[in-house]
Amino acid sequence: MFDRQKKGDRAVIVLPHSRGEGDAVRRGQEFAELVRSAGAEILGSIPARVEAPNPRFYIGTGKADEVAEAVRATEADLVLVDHVLSPVQERNLEKHLSVRVVDRAGLILDIFAQRARSHEGKLEVELAQLKHLATRLVRGWTHLDSQRGGAIGNRGPGETQLETDRRLLGERVKMLTKRLEKVQTQRTQQRRARMRNTVPRVALVGYTNAGKSTLFNVLTTGGVYVADQLFATLDPTVRKIDGLACGPAVVADTVGFIRELPHDLVAAFRATLAEARDADLLIHVSDAADEERELLRKVVNKVLEEIGAGDVPQLSVMNKIDLVDTAARIDRGDGGEIRQVWLSAATGEGLNLLRDALGELLGGERIQAGLELPLEAGRLHARLKAAGAVSVEDIDEHGWHLTIDAPRSVLAPLLGDDAHARPLRDLIDPPLVD
Ligand code: GTP
Repeated sequence: MFDRQKKGDRAVIVLPHSRGEGDAVRRGQEFAELVRSAGAEILGSIPARVEAPNPRFYIGTGKADEVAEAVRATEADLVLVDHVLSPVQERNLEKHLSVRVVDRAGLILDIFAQRARSHEGKLEVELAQLKHLATRLVRGWTHLDSQRGGAIGNRGPGETQLETDRRLLGERVKMLTKRLEKVQTQRTQQRRARMRNTVPRVALVGYTNAGKSTLFNVLTTGGVYVADQLFATLDPTVRKIDGLACGPAVVADTVGFIRELPHDLVAAFRATLAEARDADLLIHVSDAADEERELLRKVVNKVLEEIGAGDVPQLSVMNKIDLVDTAARIDRGDGGEIRQVWLSAATGEGLNLLRDALGELLGGERIQAGLELPLEAGRLHARLKAAGAVSVEDIDEHGWHLTIDAPRSVLAPLLGDDAHARPLRDLIDPPLVD
């Protein structure tokens, strides 16, 4: 359904801004980046000062004429507006400009549609696209049918559903919602199963392009898709990290956060972000070379709050130190607590510090003690060995004589319902003594 079309879009972009708004130049660059992410070529860029939005076009009438002129001069087939437009404004602009008009929400949806990889992600995107479309399916959508070439805004359910009526659309929404609920239940069950294993869960979060996927790759030595494109990762990919002092952990890469992510999209991608909400620790990745990094951290934290992940402990990682004059290090607070790790995911500098920090933060208390197990406790013994929890071992006719050295978080999941786990349980949760 979301096949990418070969033909690229040739776009003119319109950048509305108002006087009180922050850095218009940066916003413009970011939007241009989004547009390129979607696979479009930018033929012209028009800033538009909007103090009081024009109900007809959102931008002023004079500005709309200027855009029409640019479209004619460049022979663009698409106009992208860096603001959310009402369905009526979008339609009026299309009539005025005689080309397709896609607003910020439509563009982000399009990128999500291209990037979704899991079954669940695809369902969510289609659902969000249909809902977006439903508000625009009132009447008068035939005026551009003859000119609807290109890809952006035409991808996904649009082509077929535009000609059908709202009833069919409603049925499809219902069907998708049901399917999605089923997938989500399965996913929750999987997540619960993982929790029962009590392997610590970490999620990588951060503003788009901070370097999450790169860090994810080097931490897990896997091979996910990394690209200098916004939203390279839409679906969280969950992988195991080995070699931490606390024993194995799982880490999820999440979607890149962005300013003004349309609100219904945040809701639509709730499952993608559920990995962050359920994590034991968030690695909040920032681009150390970005002057706006503090502001962007706030943007990310605001979204995290919105999805209910505001209380999850965070480890701040300043990535890309190779681009600034900073050595790899761990910053600690007055009480010795870890505050921040400085590293470069690209060169690998400081990666060992991040591993140390994760081991420390996830491990909790380390248990070092002798443990006697009867000979029949062979299975438990094998599990302890496999977890790397045994530092010294001996065996005689009375049983195993072990020295255990491992974090509590590694030992606890090994207890299971093993009948011989009592001595280990006493070690982890010593019985109260009067
Ligand atoms: P989204 O998926 O869009 O949220 O991006 P992301 O945060 O996953 O970023 P990604 O890992 O795709 O990296 C973005 C760009 O930054 C890529 O071009 C990387 O090669 C580059 N990059 C990542 N880490 C480093 C680093 O330590 N140093 C330098 N110089 N570049 C880096």
